[in-house]
Amino acid sequence: MRFATISAAAALLSSASAHLNIVLTNDDGFGSANIRALYNELTKQNHSVLIVGPAENQSGTGGTTVWPTSNLTSRGGHDLLIPGAYFAGQEAGGLNNPSINKSVDLVVSGPNEGSNLGPLVFTLSGTLGAAYVAVGRGIPAVAFSAGNSTKRSYKDWNPNDPTDIANVHGKLGADLVSALAYGRDISKGDKVLPTSLGLNVNFPKINSTCRGLPMIQTRLTGSALTDKAHVAFTCTVVFNAAGFPTYGDLAGASGINNCVTGDCDLPGETLISTTTCMTTVTVSVCLFLSAKEEQAAHALTTSQAFSVDYDAPQAYTASTKEHLEYTVLNKLNTAPGSYKKRDWQPRGKGMIFE
Ligand SMILES: *[C@@H]1O[C@H](CO)[C@@H](O)[C@H](O)[C@H]1NC(C)=O
Ligand SMILES: *[C@@H]1O[C@H](CO)[C@@H](O)[C@H](O)[C@H]1NC(C)=O
Ligand SMILES: *[C@@H]1O[C@H](CO)[C@@H](O)[C@H](O)[C@H]1NC(C)=O
Ligand SMILES: *[C@@H]1O[C@H](CO)[C@@H](O)[C@H](O)[C@H]1NC(C)=O
Ligand SMILES: *[C@@H]1O[C@H](CO)[C@@H](O)[C@H](O)[C@H]1NC(C)=O
Ligand SMILES: *[C@@H]1O[C@H](CO)[C@@H](O)[C@H](O)[C@H]1NC(C)=O
Repeated sequence: MRFATISAAAALLSSASAHLNIVLTNDDGFGSANIRALYNELTKQNHSVLIVGPAENQSGTGGTTVWPTSNLTSRGGHDLLIPGAYFAGQEAGGLNNPSINKSVDLVVSGPNEGSNLGPLVFTLSGTLGAAYVAVGRGIPAVAFSAGNSTKRSYKDWNPNDPTDIANVHGKLGADLVSALAYGRDISKGDKVLPTSLGLNVNFPKINSTCRGLPMIQTRLTGSALTDKAHVAFTCTVVFNAAGFPTYGDLAGASGINNCVTGDCDLPGETLISTTTCMTTVTVSVCLFLSAKEEQAAHALTTSQAFSVDYDAPQAYTASTKEHLEYTVLNKLNTAPGSYKKRDWQPRGKGMIFE
């Protein structure tokens, strides 16, 4: 039975996995059931975790930073806070508290209440934004998003029920984190992922038969959606009941579906996550901060081509390819050594472990 195999593999993983100092964040708010369940599972697997999440919903804010200019003015998401309370933490000094002054081995963001698939959403999502800002600072990061978009407070979550969907997401996420930490020696300077790389992980809509396994490596481009929002060509704009333009999915846009930089043989995460029960794992890259830093350092006017394919270049991921494909995905999906790989159709060479 698959469950027995997975928990045996996960037990092996946590004993051989490095203990990580993790900052866990999200964009839905610190009171979300999903972030609490992932916290529980990560601490069960012997990682040290500090939750630093927003008081209010920050969905759709991408990688923006907005510092507070007052103490709390409302009760926040899920009605959990007291107006007038200090802007960070439970007491004055919250973020400067010496007890949280540790090095950070990994930033984990999510699991988001809803999927985050493809390049458009990559830049838009606050869940991804927290991850790529951390990656830009040299801290490895993983963004998790759940196909189930139900917005639940931790007060409606049962930490002891393994069938609670937040716990299913939490277990999948923590298993992947421990798999990344597998065989790493943090005290000797090993990093969980190489500098500039992050992961975008999407769980499918979980139900009693759809369990988010196996995990499969994907790319951002391919079947990705963007918005119908071209005002010059009004036929592509969607209007709401009040007669104003609103969001609508545009499939097949050429720009975000052109594989520019990643492994073009991998299947697109959008297709896999919306049509199968597998969890998609995409290696993405965050290199654009360095151009800004150079500009600031040298006071030059820079001109640089950019691409909207944020997949990590294949050559750049060569050193992690083995760890990701054979150690991480294989160990999570099956007992060690018992995987088989088969061709993924229609693209040909993408691999699924089953
Ligand atoms: C848990 O992590 C601590 C701190 O790194 C370590 O000393 C301990 O051996 C770990 N325990 C297990 C069961 O891995
Ligand atoms: C958070 O904001 C997003 C975008 O504005 C919205 O779609 C979502 O429903 C909000 N979530 C909650 C819990 O209000
Ligand atoms: C914010 O809260 C702290 C802690 O209660 C308090 O010391 C400070 O005066 C408050 N600041 C403002 C502008 O209200
Ligand atoms: C945080 O740790 C660093 C390195 O150990 C130390 O230099 C710094 O003073 C510490 N800051 C606080 C606020 O404790
Ligand atoms: C999402 O999860 C909730 C329980 O948290 C469940 O009631 C709901 O049916 C799920 N939705 C989907 C589409 O799976
Ligand atoms: C679970 O989800 C899968 C994929 O969406 C679907 O095919 C299947 O019918 C669902 N099963 C149940 C019991 O809802």
